[in-house]
Amino acid sequence: MKGFLSYFAGRYIAGDERGEAIEVARELNTHSIVATIDNLGENVKDEKEAEESVVEYLALINDIKETGVQSTISLKLTHMGLDISEELAEKNTETIIKEAGKLKKFARVDMEGSRYTQRTVDTVVRLHEKHENVGVAIQTCLRRSRADVKLLIEKGISVRLVKGAYKEPPDIAYPDKKDVDESYSTLMKELLLKGNRPAIATHDERLIEEARRFVEENGISRSGFEFQMLLGIRRTLQKELARDGYIVRVYVPYGPNWMAYIMRRLKERKENVYFVMRHVFD
Ligand code: FDA
Repeated sequence: MKGFLSYFAGRYIAGDERGEAIEVARELNTHSIVATIDNLGENVKDEKEAEESVVEYLALINDIKETGVQSTISLKLTHMGLDISEELAEKNTETIIKEAGKLKKFARVDMEGSRYTQRTVDTVVRLHEKHENVGVAIQTCLRRSRADVKLLIEKGISVRLVKGAYKEPPDIAYPDKKDVDESYSTLMKELLLKGNRPAIATHDERLIEEARRFVEENGISRSGFEFQMLLGIRRTLQKELARDGYIVRVYVPYGPNWMAYIMRRLKERKENVYFVMRHVFD
């Protein structure tokens, strides 16, 4: 099963090594697509592991500088030690953000499961008071996100809007996809009008088309926001949007700790589950 999943993972992940992520970013750049590179890892259990993650990110930032690829970075607070303490995760993340800031590079904090939402928002708000080059992802499946988006707009913090990749209970999240999509549409328009360089991160063609119409109707500059997609998903659409003059950024994950990421990609699309089941039971 792991062997087959690793074959499946090949579509979504640049490789085990940092150099492979840099190469994928370079290839995307040739199509006028920029990248955000993520070193895969989450829920580290000891300080040493969290420190190793920081060292890897510092090396990644150095490689981005040396190679000149057009890429920012993305990271998860539980990779920086949030399960150990909020202070540790903040200190580690700040080390990375400062280094990225020296190159005028942006660092995006991914949003994880709901038990981390408040701490992630709080940490990013505190970090942003000292460093402008940090932003966060917000999930439209969560009922609280309208309030979070309002706060982040007020603080001038850049939001990457996503539907949400974690299974959440109905008291805090919309159980129906229709409501998640409607929440996406509402928050997307709010961010396009008032947000600081929002990232519209979805592969949903209906929402992408809605965003295109909305910016046109409201005279919003194409350089004031960006579309974001995941590596390996809707590759043709990524190139088409870039050709049409939109900023398109692709999330490029790498590293050996890919299992949790791949399981999320698998679960969010039933065709992927069938694909894997067919090969496992063939
Ligand atoms: P939706 O699920 O409705 O899919 C629309 C279409 O996209 C599908 O019909 C299919 O064609 C295609 N598609 C979607 N998923 C696919 C898959 N796995 N394989 C193949 N095709 C697929 N989530 C989170 O909780 N925290 C985060 O920080 C982030 N960060 C992030 C960054 C970026 C750049 C993106 C694009 C997404 C995230 N996500 C995320 C993931 C996000 O929450 C969501 O799970 C996926 O983007 C899938 O939702 P869509 O918006 O694409 O819509």
